[in-house]
Amino acid sequence: MTASHDHAPIVPREHLDFDLDNPDIPKYWMSGDPFKTRFFDAMSTLFPQGERFFITSVREFRDQITDPKLAKEVRDFTRQEAQHSMVHRQYNNRLKTQGIEIDAIEKDLEQSLFVDIPKVTTAKQRLAATSALEHLTSMMCTCFFERRDLLATSDPRVRAMYAWHAIEEVEHTAVAYDVMVDVAKVGYLRRNIAMLSVSIGFPITVGRILNHMLEADGFSRWQRMKLWAKGLWWFWKPGGLFPATLGYYFSYYKPGFHPWKLREMPSYGQWVQTFQATGNPIAAGNALHAAGQ
Ligand SMILES: [Fe+2]
Ligand SMILES: [Fe+2]
Repeated sequence: MTASHDHAPIVPREHLDFDLDNPDIPKYWMSGDPFKTRFFDAMSTLFPQGERFFITSVREFRDQITDPKLAKEVRDFTRQEAQHSMVHRQYNNRLKTQGIEIDAIEKDLEQSLFVDIPKVTTAKQRLAATSALEHLTSMMCTCFFERRDLLATSDPRVRAMYAWHAIEEVEHTAVAYDVMVDVAKVGYLRRNIAMLSVSIGFPITVGRILNHMLEADGFSRWQRMKLWAKGLWWFWKPGGLFPATLGYYFSYYKPGFHPWKLREMPSYGQWVQTFQATGNPIAAGNALHAAGQ
């Protein structure tokens, strides 16, 4: 019996148009700030292969799922993640025209996620890593959109892409976890070891790509050091991006944790209502942003 049964349904949404090919979108779409922009851009480069890895890891246990509700949730989760990969790939094509080595980044990631890592891990460990990464994604989605000031001066189209992604991450937040606990029977210790390892590996990977992007943008080593110092302060200063996420992050390690025990994104309903009324994901993204604190 999974705890996710009484929550908002997982709704795969397809054919969304964020107008991402529009040349008006500024290169530094977040506050004109290279570091902030490239932090989100670096995550975007990870999504096509990363979400394919999530889908593969969960589907390895598909045949063992007996609960029809969970089986449907896995199908909807798969459809949502496949759409995320597709839209981020479209966005990443924009980055390619800016000189970012998207193909090389994807190739490295593919080699590591689908060749190297499977050689040294079990299917249960890969599922546990997926569940841990899904917790990190939901954490960022919930916490970033609660803080209106953080995304205030962002291009509404790119912000809308992240708003949609955030909404769907919140909807399917428990799927990988439920398959891990109820089907794969991964225990407490193995879950937490997986969380510890992705908590180290994920920021290192994002940081390396972010640094490559700043280099490709033509910033000298000294300029990059300054950008990093300012950026790390933006991340970690009191009231900054990450201090607000710590409670959410550590809840994963608690015995008896389940993703649905965490608070839901408060402005989730605003996005859904606006999207239902207008069918326009950019308007929905604006509504989500406007409803933040
Ligand atoms: Fe996703
Ligand atoms: Fe996800």
